[in-house]
Amino acid sequence: MANPTSRHALNERYPATHRRLRANSHIRELAAAFSLDHRDFIQPLFVDETLSERKESRGMSGVFSETRESVLASIERDIAAGVTKFLLFPVPSGKSHHPHDADFDFAASVVRAVKQRFDADVWLACDLCLCSYTEHGHCGILSADGTRLLNHETVTTLAEYALRLAEAGADCIAPSDMSDGRIHAIRSVLDANEYDHVAVMSYASKFASAFYGPFRDVCKSRPSSTVQLQGRSTYQLSTYNLSDALASAERDLAEGADIIMVKPAVPYLDIVARLSERLLAPLAVYHVSGEYASVELLAREGLIDRRAAHLELWTSFKRAGASIVISYAAREACGWIQGL
Ligand code: PBG
Repeated sequence: MANPTSRHALNERYPATHRRLRANSHIRELAAAFSLDHRDFIQPLFVDETLSERKESRGMSGVFSETRESVLASIERDIAAGVTKFLLFPVPSGKSHHPHDADFDFAASVVRAVKQRFDADVWLACDLCLCSYTEHGHCGILSADGTRLLNHETVTTLAEYALRLAEAGADCIAPSDMSDGRIHAIRSVLDANEYDHVAVMSYASKFASAFYGPFRDVCKSRPSSTVQLQGRSTYQLSTYNLSDALASAERDLAEGADIIMVKPAVPYLDIVARLSERLLAPLAVYHVSGEYASVELLAREGLIDRRAAHLELWTSFKRAGASIVISYAAREACGWIQGL
């Protein structure tokens, strides 16, 4: 019988010594199945009509609410840092029960200013939702008794809003409201008005999540406790419902969405993995405000390395099958990836 401690016997017990593939950076690079590319990133931008100067967002270091003027300088810096794709969140000064055309003037003016200044040097997607416009903070128009969102009224208003953004020069409309049938309505109104070149990126698998807190602070869109409809769980997806998440993405694609998004990112990477195998469309993943802030707050306490943490998260999104990453740290991607 062989001596169990001899080299030969050990090799028989551990025949595949895969640590050889981790031994140095050269072989780790060769063995890597994924690599990050800053060109896959989208940088969110907040522009708040009420501000006279830019203001840093609570918990989100490096993320500012901009003014209509300061956002242009911010984009200029981002372009220099290698970012060309943006997702704009306009925050209007007024709120109402039923937003109307004039309420979208500010959003349209920001889109127009950005495109006038940067034209084809940037790709500008604009978030499409009513939650920053409604006094109750819900993503659509509320019934008179305050118990539910009116789907038809909401979709009609969103389609009008989408047309305003397209007229102003948006390259992409990104509806985040989760009303039924809005992709079809938006695609139809764009096509009927010769905006067939404007893309639609649908927040298709968007979950009712606890991770949107910092964003709602910035966008002043926290659902009010004074109306009967509480929270967003009657229109955003349930964490427990897998088939709804997959079907919602398939429906939006069938209705004419060009890009499908999953949001938040980390708790839903199983959805990303499944959709990347099912759908013939680019898949975007949104590392949302609460997820971003959790990294930033840990880093601020010196408990983790900010750069390493974001790079690890981004790689996990790619590994799950996402082709597009929406991250509040997108403006760091080029520098960080080059430095790898
Ligand atoms: C609005 C909207 C939300 C986000 C994007 N669009 C939040 C919400 O549903 O309240 C979240 C983005 C983030 O947290 O970074 N419908």
